[in-house]
Amino acid sequence: MKAKLKVSEGFELAKIDNRIYSSFVEHMGRCVYGGIYEPGNPLSNESGYREDVIEAINELSVPMIRYPGGNFVSGYKWEDGVGPKEDRPRRVDLHWRTVESNQFGTDEFMDWIKEVDAETMMAVNLGTRGIQEACDLLEYCNLDSNSYWAQKRREYGNDSAYKIKTWCLGNEMDGPWQTGHKTAYEYARLANETANAMRLLDPSIELVACGSSNESMPTFGEWEETVLKECYDNVDYISMHQYFDAPKKGTLHHLAKSVRMDKFIDSVVAICDSIKAMKRSDKTMMISFDEWNAWYHSNEHDAAVTPWQEAPDILEDQYTFEDGLLVGLALITLLKHADRVKIACMAQLVNVIAPIFTNETGLFKQTIFYPYAHASNYGRGTVLQSIIESPEYEVEEFGKVPYLESVVIDNDDEHLTIFAVNRSLDQSLELSLDFVGYEAYQLDAHIEYSSTDPLVKNSFTSSIEPIEVEVNPEAKQLDIKPLSWNVIRLK
Ligand code: AHR
Repeated sequence: MKAKLKVSEGFELAKIDNRIYSSFVEHMGRCVYGGIYEPGNPLSNESGYREDVIEAINELSVPMIRYPGGNFVSGYKWEDGVGPKEDRPRRVDLHWRTVESNQFGTDEFMDWIKEVDAETMMAVNLGTRGIQEACDLLEYCNLDSNSYWAQKRREYGNDSAYKIKTWCLGNEMDGPWQTGHKTAYEYARLANETANAMRLLDPSIELVACGSSNESMPTFGEWEETVLKECYDNVDYISMHQYFDAPKKGTLHHLAKSVRMDKFIDSVVAICDSIKAMKRSDKTMMISFDEWNAWYHSNEHDAAVTPWQEAPDILEDQYTFEDGLLVGLALITLLKHADRVKIACMAQLVNVIAPIFTNETGLFKQTIFYPYAHASNYGRGTVLQSIIESPEYEVEEFGKVPYLESVVIDNDDEHLTIFAVNRSLDQSLELSLDFVGYEAYQLDAHIEYSSTDPLVKNSFTSSIEPIEVEVNPEAKQLDIKPLSWNVIRLK
């Protein structure tokens, strides 16, 4: 099969906000305890942080990490997690029906995150709590004032304020599963008033209002409209979440699910812009796609887990190769919307639906690790507008889907990077590059991640890893293997 990729110098879609490669650490399962934090383990440093995990996260070059939830945040009393560890209460987490020891909290997270050189995206509890507690946390984190919570932070050993820029106004408040679930209007009012108060404390912050938990929520659309009518002037982003479900209709159907993500983004952008028009506003609402991934492998196991355990092994999806390709396709989709998607967080980072999986003696990198690492490391710069000519296949729900999915990035450092996925199960694509204005550029590198078995998984004992393919610098055509994720670099 033949495919063509066309770009033209100067035709740019958008500068990429690096926070599109962000991640998420929630207090649930073994993400924090047994994931990033495991005091006493020989692999941990004196603060209890797993050094092998830090090293693997650093390979992902994660720019920002959302914390502390997720569904967890909607029942969280952040004050339980600060101060002397021996005084911290053990609490039940109503959503995950577990016990939280509070041995890791805000100060530990802010200390740990320095090790991975990322910024924090902090979420406040708008489920069981409200304006006052959100402001107290903001004061604790961001203020240099001589006031109660800022003083408490100093008393607990942190003189300098953390100056966290990005804050989420609750989590998935449209979901009936959320502790303190609200109607759109109830949430809209609370979010707007919380935003007002938080901005009075610290006008430099950016705020994310909750959008829909997924595109099939019965309130989708109306929720965004109600929330934005109320909060438009006070928030900077509306959130989107999406998890890809089990591949019940085969690999070709599974790999088409990025089309669902694409349509979901288009729909949310349309709603944002209609509110902008109604308000005669000059401000453009941006998107924080702050949870996305595949999530389905662990469902059966998790339904039978005994409640009120500490850090149980829940949501421990073991990803297949086709999930890895779907993650690559999702990253391409997010990049193709880089004009509106400024933040995106792969959910989550360690053990819980995660690219990194640990046990007491080590870790392995799941299939989804590699496209994420490649996109984050090579996908900085400006997305170019591109035209893709590709043969297509037809599949239920999505109609015609191109075999080739791709995005081209000008790295703004004399390099161009192409990310490309071939969805075909058995046929290579002969890809021609028609790059007007880039005639002097030559092929520099080609990293290929491919497998003939879409269902193969990585584990502690065996892993499929990407390979470097030898390139002919003069070539204007490349072979894109069936079922493959590719990073093609020109300079
Ligand atoms: O990431 C797992 C869960 O998925 C999060 O806690 C919640 O926000 C979403 O439903």
